[in-house]
Amino acid sequence: MIVLGIETTCDETAAAVVERRDDGRGRILSNVVLSQVSEHAPFGGVVPEIAARAHVEVLDTVIAQAMDEAGLGFDRLDGVAAAAGPGLIGGVIVGLTTAKAIALVQGKPLIAVNHLEAHALTARLTDATPFPYCLFLASGGHTQIVAVRGVGDYVRLGTTHDDAIGEAFDKTAKLLGLGYPGGPQVEKEAAAGNAARFALPRPMHGRKDADFSLSGLKTALRLEAEKIAPLSDQDVADLCAAFQQAVVDVVFDRLRAGLRIFRAKFGAPTALVAAGGVAANQAIRKVLQRLAVEAGTALVAPPLELCTDNGAMIAWAGAERLALGLSDGLDVAPRARWPLDEIAAAQGALKRTAAYK
Ligand code: KG4
Ligand code: ZN
Repeated sequence: MIVLGIETTCDETAAAVVERRDDGRGRILSNVVLSQVSEHAPFGGVVPEIAARAHVEVLDTVIAQAMDEAGLGFDRLDGVAAAAGPGLIGGVIVGLTTAKAIALVQGKPLIAVNHLEAHALTARLTDATPFPYCLFLASGGHTQIVAVRGVGDYVRLGTTHDDAIGEAFDKTAKLLGLGYPGGPQVEKEAAAGNAARFALPRPMHGRKDADFSLSGLKTALRLEAEKIAPLSDQDVADLCAAFQQAVVDVVFDRLRAGLRIFRAKFGAPTALVAAGGVAANQAIRKVLQRLAVEAGTALVAPPLELCTDNGAMIAWAGAERLALGLSDGLDVAPRARWPLDEIAAAQGALKRTAAYK
């Protein structure tokens, strides 16, 4: 089964062709990602209207390149998948409408993929991870701990009450005058900093639930920075190190609670799976490894280019759904908001998942 996947929910215009074999194994035939970072950088964040226009300008070329690199014509596809949300609605409309046009002209099934579901299922593309596993999704827009029990069967165990972790990294970078996106910059600065210099809070520490809160940490950091302004290079490095260490501690505590809830509700997970751009952070990866060992499970952390937004994850999620006989009508609507546990057809998928490896 060969599926084209299109991703346009944020600031990456991406298309990929992925094969899903009958034994459930995946293979990426092409994976083209065009980042809009340079267009948003002057504004210190993603500007929705600029993103939508940029998607319109380059999506056709990106899709053509993905098909070309896969060495296939559209007639060889078994389905066309696009991220139908959640995300910036202008961009989502661009990707979904393009997918509809290709599906209509080529007479192929359309699969409207939930962007979060695509992050959630990537571990099956890269590592054929069996269900059920515990997903830690941390990106610029989302921070969630999810029990992934089957295709279309997701139970959210924890989420953030305010900022996403990536967003907190981005805001910290902005506050300290570092570039966008902030995560990689903060990580780089932190390497030369002294985390112990500032006492930052660890919000939600010790709570039984698995929820996050990052806004208090961000405010505490701002107050510390204001106290010692103007900031020297070493001040910036120390603040970054203190911030990153606080986030690492928060992730450890909250995810540990999440794994505990997972085990109580669903038994032992087959793996702890990392997804989202924040999983690129080496300090976070290290803490995930520690947690996996403590929980007696494996850590599955897909390669960085598959942790951040890409078309392969959309194509793969489309193929997983198609393999279950799930596809969508051409009238399917784009969705700015689309929580993971509200996935349509979950009931149908749930029944079939029992017989599905
Ligand atoms: O998954 P992603 O590419 O896009 C979204 O769906 O949001 O994640 C982007 C986010 C940004 O907030 C970025 O600052 C963060 O991931 N990020 C990092 C690192 N690399 C990217 N955060 C911390 N450390 C990093 N090395
Ligand atoms: Zn994402």
